Amino acid sequence: MPKASMLSIGAYAPPKILTNADLEKLVDTSDEWILKRTGIKERRIAENEVTSELGAKAAEQAILRAGIQKEQIDAIICASISPDFFCMPSTATAIAHRIGLKSGITAFDISAACTGFIYLLELAKSLVESGAKKYVLIVGAEKLSSIIDYTDRSTCVLFGDGAGAAVIGANEENEIIDVHTASDGKYGDLLITPGCGSVYPSSDPLTFEKRLNYLHMSGNEVFKIAVQTLTRDVVEIMQKNKISSEQIDLFIPHQANLRIIDAVKQRLNFTSEQCVLTVDKYGNTSSASIPMAINEAYESGKLKNGSLMLLDAFGGGFTWGSALLKFGGK
Ligand code: COA
Repeated sequence: MPKASMLSIGAYAPPKILTNADLEKLVDTSDEWILKRTGIKERRIAENEVTSELGAKAAEQAILRAGIQKEQIDAIICASISPDFFCMPSTATAIAHRIGLKSGITAFDISAACTGFIYLLELAKSLVESGAKKYVLIVGAEKLSSIIDYTDRSTCVLFGDGAGAAVIGANEENEIIDVHTASDGKYGDLLITPGCGSVYPSSDPLTFEKRLNYLHMSGNEVFKIAVQTLTRDVVEIMQKNKISSEQIDLFIPHQANLRIIDAVKQRLNFTSEQCVLTVDKYGNTSSASIPMAINEAYESGKLKNGSLMLLDAFGGGFTWGSALLKFGGK
């Protein structure tokens, strides 16, 4: 059975920066409040680009770095909560078309909110290790600014736009050791974009009057459950694989809030050198946050061929998950 590996990483952040000072002009907030409660200084906003364009740029970089030809990719899977279109066509097919992947390949989207990239890893690993596909391109792409209510100070300060991508293929030396994904639908209402589905259809004027087309969140409750769940999940994957925190080269958590990351980091004894942080400059980019952070580690030289990474994420649904892998890229 072939072993699956992350052969490359790529990312793209749109150039426009939205600072905390900019947000002070939109809602009743302050740089001090945002920084203290979240660790976020700025986030990126895609002004003239749609989700599939962000994803395409990250994907092009990942393919180039994998050293393979586009014709060799036989599946693309995209995770997004801010896709190009609500129902169809998928953002994966749009990205495939934009970057010129061959006609006939498998292409589909998944919805797992901020845990999207971990779900993508599990899917791609299964496809490669079953022998069904040789190279799978996975993309987390978000134009969250299209579903954020910039009159709601409790959410608009948190999120940003961006994309990250990776090529998954066979590599015996540096495998994806383990991936764990999970969910519990009873918490669905705590983090939700309620409108424009079958419950609050876009045909109902109340959907827009009540601003249900935007993301809504009970931040305080999400915070508490996120810290407990992430800590438990990371402990479980390390115990299952008999790995201690000192053996991990890079701990790359979902970049939602510095306080959540710090709480998990402290409970698990990770040092600041091990922990990759991008939340200060990108905010929460949902499914793109982990691959953007992996890319940051790669470009800064911290992530090398064979580095042992521990990823963890938590998001709407609720969904959560973790992954343990050795980077197989050059
Ligand atoms: N600026 C200023 N004040 C704000 C504010 C903002 N941007 N957003 C909320 N407040 C106010 C609230 O209205 C509240 O005021 P009140 O006490 O007068 O009612 C006060 O700050 C405290 O609100 P609360 O929601 O309890 O703050 P908090 O300490 O929980 O921080 C979050 C809010 C959103 C930063 C925090 O709950 C959080 O990060 N939650 C998790 C979010 C997350 O990561 N979600 C994604 C998971 S994938």
